[in-house]
Amino acid sequence: MLKVTIIGLGFVGLSLTSFLSSKKIKVIGVDSNKQKIELLKNGSSDFFEPDLEKYLRKGEKFQEFTTKIDHRTLDSNFIFITVGTPLDNKNKINLNSVKTVTEKISQNLKEISKKPNIILKSTVVPGTGIDIIKPILEKNGNIEGKDFELISNPEFLREGSAMHDTIQPHVIVIGGRNHGTRKNLLDFYKSINLKHQKYFETNNTTAEMIKYANNAFLATKISFINSLANICQKIPGTDVDDIAKVMGMDPRISGLFLKAGPGYGGSCFPKDVQALISFSKSIGYNPELLEAVQDNNYKQVRTISDILERQLGNLKDMKIGLLGLSFKENTDDIRESVSIRLIEHLLKKKSKIIVHDPKAINNTKEIFLKRIMYCEKLEDVFKLSDCAVLMTPWEDYKKISSKLIKKLQSKLFIDTRRLLKLNDKEIIFISLGIGENKSYDNFLKSSKKL
Ligand code: UGA
Repeated sequence: MLKVTIIGLGFVGLSLTSFLSSKKIKVIGVDSNKQKIELLKNGSSDFFEPDLEKYLRKGEKFQEFTTKIDHRTLDSNFIFITVGTPLDNKNKINLNSVKTVTEKISQNLKEISKKPNIILKSTVVPGTGIDIIKPILEKNGNIEGKDFELISNPEFLREGSAMHDTIQPHVIVIGGRNHGTRKNLLDFYKSINLKHQKYFETNNTTAEMIKYANNAFLATKISFINSLANICQKIPGTDVDDIAKVMGMDPRISGLFLKAGPGYGGSCFPKDVQALISFSKSIGYNPELLEAVQDNNYKQVRTISDILERQLGNLKDMKIGLLGLSFKENTDDIRESVSIRLIEHLLKKKSKIIVHDPKAINNTKEIFLKRIMYCEKLEDVFKLSDCAVLMTPWEDYKKISSKLIKKLQSKLFIDTRRLLKLNDKEIIFISLGIGENKSYDNFLKSSKKL
């Protein structure tokens, strides 16, 4: 019987575990976090992801969860490494978890009856597979091709649609030393009938670089459109969404990831852009474009705070409501969320912060404790605040009306995602990326440079 071991049960590892087991493949899910394993043994996940628990339940009989990495749990045809690769304190990629897991695999390889295909799925800087992982696996007298195969297979799933992306990946990239090595994984993926399969074969290092190329390019698109939004903000009557829509009609561009907003967040883009910057410098290239993308992203918090100050003056003691704490909708993940950075920024200005989020309140409480106020009900934010800023485009927020906004003391509402279309002279409604509605003639007269 085909057996798979998946080490690291975050979004990537757990989505794969639940999907493969739902396909009746025996999966051993390994994670060093005991609490996580206990929850999984009871059918629950320690993070929210749509449909994940549904697939976990479906594949229940084919799953085993454990904290142990030994010859029994590793005795599989495929061993996926899906542990996290955060940044270290010098802003370089921290490969400690990947190395520790690989050491354990290496120590056990001789006692495994099968020759496992070791699949590196964690995001790693180019060269990690061949220069770091392979030598660790070769310790203890193990030989590539005889005792193991090593494949780099980056993952492109998005949080919030992790199950969908696991089942329907836009492409499967398989990096290995030759076609024979890669074929095992290729055949495995084909056998589980992933939808819309597109496969791309290359070497390990190129596969690793492809992952960074994708994330860095998507981050660049977002920073580009955010720059345009900031320009539009100052030109009466312009609408960044119309501009993005037409740009997207050009087949050379594609309209995806051109949604302007408060900046990109999450556990991937900020980390991966930074890791690629540090890596490029370490090999003698100064990646000025990527640094500008990153700089632009961090400055979006200032853009929002500047609008607040322009409208309200000094923000000391101002009660500011923030709607949406997760880095995007449909997740409770607040890692590198722009909302969290905005709260930190406004707390330094001594503002009072009142927040709402449909899923991410508990995670946020762990950071700010009693330093900010949390609202269960959306309406309460409006009753308690002087002004409000919509940060995350949750579906729930589409119902916000001008009647609700009038409850804010200053009647100022900033929509950073342009989720709402409101036209009411009694409120101050500012959409990031839509030029303020004064006449163009006045704008030209008031512009000193013209
Ligand atoms: C991202 C990539 O999209 C995945 O392909 C990749 O596998 C993943 O990183 C990873 O490396 O693990 P994710 O971080 O889950 O996925 O979220 P995205 O949907 O890409 O959004 C990232 C951030 O960009 C969010 O803060 C989102 O609000 C923002 N964003 C996205 C925009 O501001 N505008 C857009 O048009 C799109």
